[in-house]
Amino acid sequence: MQILKSISEVLEFRKNCTGSVGFVPTMGALHAGHASLIKKSVEQNDNTIVSIFVNPTQFLPGEDLDKYPRNEVGDTKICELCGASAVFFPDANEMYGKDEPLILAPKELSSSLEGALRPGHFDGVCRVLNKFFNIIRPDRAYFGKKDAQQLTIIQNMVKNFFMNLEIVPCEIVRESDGLALSSRNSYLGDDELCYALKLSRSIMKASNLIKANELNALKIKAAMSECLEPLKVDYVAIVNRNFEPIENVELGNTIILVAAYVGKTRLIDNLWV
Ligand code: PAF
Repeated sequence: MQILKSISEVLEFRKNCTGSVGFVPTMGALHAGHASLIKKSVEQNDNTIVSIFVNPTQFLPGEDLDKYPRNEVGDTKICELCGASAVFFPDANEMYGKDEPLILAPKELSSSLEGALRPGHFDGVCRVLNKFFNIIRPDRAYFGKKDAQQLTIIQNMVKNFFMNLEIVPCEIVRESDGLALSSRNSYLGDDELCYALKLSRSIMKASNLIKANELNALKIKAAMSECLEPLKVDYVAIVNRNFEPIENVELGNTIILVAAYVGKTRLIDNLWV
């Protein structure tokens, strides 16, 4: 596996790739969720490039950019074990110019939920992925469904900019107790883990209600909110795949989402129905 530190090294590596190229963009602190994306790419492509970059433009002032977990050695090991062909560690100064044209996230898709609470976040995500897609020119790129709104926005960007790659959505990976894997779980103290489980329990509650034929969004959201007490909840939402709020769950076209704080750690979870 090659370690690439500059864009010219990536371009050179890419030039020598034969066959298909899969790309797994990450911010590092890799866990089994990331490993599942890398393994899927390795299965489906002749070459897999993983990027590890804590992208400054998608963090708002006051967010956890500086303390976001970083583990270059451990991450490199995981990429190698999963069968990646190369890992790219970009340099922020090389990635971003002083005066560059901006690509912005689609307005409607990015105006609610994560986009409303973290204004500008999805612009930063689109901006960095646009650069990555131009540098790496992957045939496929892999994204977890846990960041449901991000995934939808990226699909929209790729479609509307006629980008020549396939976005491959990947299932959420959970601990055996249900907690959705996240690099931010490492912020949680032992005494907070049981509170973090409230998110997946609320999602499980929604799933059970739907299985019992309860499709009314207000009733499902009320039951979820009860499960989440006493957490500080940012939102409990039921939307269609265009991220528009809906009154009744539509099987095959619904996402149920939750964002809440466990102490100072903000966690998200969701269910695609
Ligand atoms: O989901 C993430 O980790 C990031 O938003 C991504 C896609 C790597 C872009 O920085």
